Amino acid sequence: MVIAYKGDVIYTPTPDRFEAVEDGYVLVEGGKVVCVAGSLPREYADAEVIDRSGHLIIPGFNDLHIHAPQYPLAGLGFDYELLPWLEKYTFRTEAKYADPDVADHWYRLFVTRLWQVGTLRFSAFATLHNESTLRLMQQCQESGLRPVIGKVNMDRNSPSDLVETTEESLRGTQELIERSKTLTPDIGFIVTPRFVPSTTVELMEGLGELVRRYRLPVQSHLDENRNEVEWVRQLHPDIPTYAQVYERYGLMPENRTIMAHCIWLTEREKALLKDRGVWLAHCAQSNLDLTSGIMPVRRNLDYGLTVSIASDVAGGHEPSMNHNIVMAIEASKAKTFEPGFEHDKPLTLPEAFHMATKAGGSFFGKVGSFEPGYEFDALVVRESESLLDLSVEERLERFIYVGDDRDIAERYVAGRLVDKPFQR
Ligand code: GUN
Ligand code: FE
Repeated sequence: MVIAYKGDVIYTPTPDRFEAVEDGYVLVEGGKVVCVAGSLPREYADAEVIDRSGHLIIPGFNDLHIHAPQYPLAGLGFDYELLPWLEKYTFRTEAKYADPDVADHWYRLFVTRLWQVGTLRFSAFATLHNESTLRLMQQCQESGLRPVIGKVNMDRNSPSDLVETTEESLRGTQELIERSKTLTPDIGFIVTPRFVPSTTVELMEGLGELVRRYRLPVQSHLDENRNEVEWVRQLHPDIPTYAQVYERYGLMPENRTIMAHCIWLTEREKALLKDRGVWLAHCAQSNLDLTSGIMPVRRNLDYGLTVSIASDVAGGHEPSMNHNIVMAIEASKAKTFEPGFEHDKPLTLPEAFHMATKAGGSFFGKVGSFEPGYEFDALVVRESESLLDLSVEERLERFIYVGDDRDIAERYVAGRLVDKPFQR
């Protein structure tokens, strides 16, 4: 059966401009978009019409880098840079998830918040704890949101209450891969070495083996902070660059890898990321919160890299992709005041919106657009009062800049209406 969602439809099939249809229809069959049309096509005259006239219908947001257990930490410790911030705040927070009851409580708040802000698909780090990670996966399965989630691997350079042996880490990962297949069939597992400094060579090799055997995706951190990059160089003096450490140990599978931050990439690393079809998760807000740097996003896009926008909560303080889109645009403008970058064109709104919808969504398949064959992942955004007569594009712009979760009336994932989770 075909369902016709009626409203002001706007999306970005390409980064250069919005495709907008005022008072139009998105036709959906079996959870997938059939087409977008200005009027109801004759052959679909008997389609069920879901009338959201006067509302925007936009693709759902996709966040390719977020730390679920760090949600309670959001907004703390930003007078520190990455490495002291991890020591002083992050590891202490994550250690508390050894208790599955803590995980149950705080992961519910996390999942509910992502639902509220319209982040329908995401790639999340959990903690190294198996039971708690499984709880997060089960909550996501129940919620109707469709993320991929990884148990974090860390067997060195970590505090005594947040570390595992190499064997525990590998055994735990494999166990969770197997258990989640049946317990949470709609939630993908993603292999998640925290970052190079916290994983031994033996652990990386073992994880690389699991990636091959189960054909799994990988997520990690890359070139975020200059002290971190220098640390990796000291740990692996025989490997020319940070990215090549992941490559060496089988942790950069083709078209299945997400690398967060990527601020300090060398030319060699850019070539490798392009060759492997890596998704760069650009976390502009986090990069300013932790004084990490500003990614030269224009150059990465021009080079042909796939760049998505991500929140990195709690390196970033705000999970809402509205804020993260704005931050990415603002950071790209700030970049042009840096010597040597004066002529880099800042991100436009359609580009940044594309990065937060279709570019990130492509990690999950045909997600993040309303082109034919795409999964119908959508947000219905309420019209608010306006003094000027605004176009659909301008209304979206206003929602991105000053709107919030209260403006989101409905969320659909693959054609299914997703209600607020955990209400029963
Ligand atoms: N690098 C290693 N761990 C982390 C983390 O938790 N957050 C961020 N932003 N970077 C990291
Ligand atoms: Fe991160």
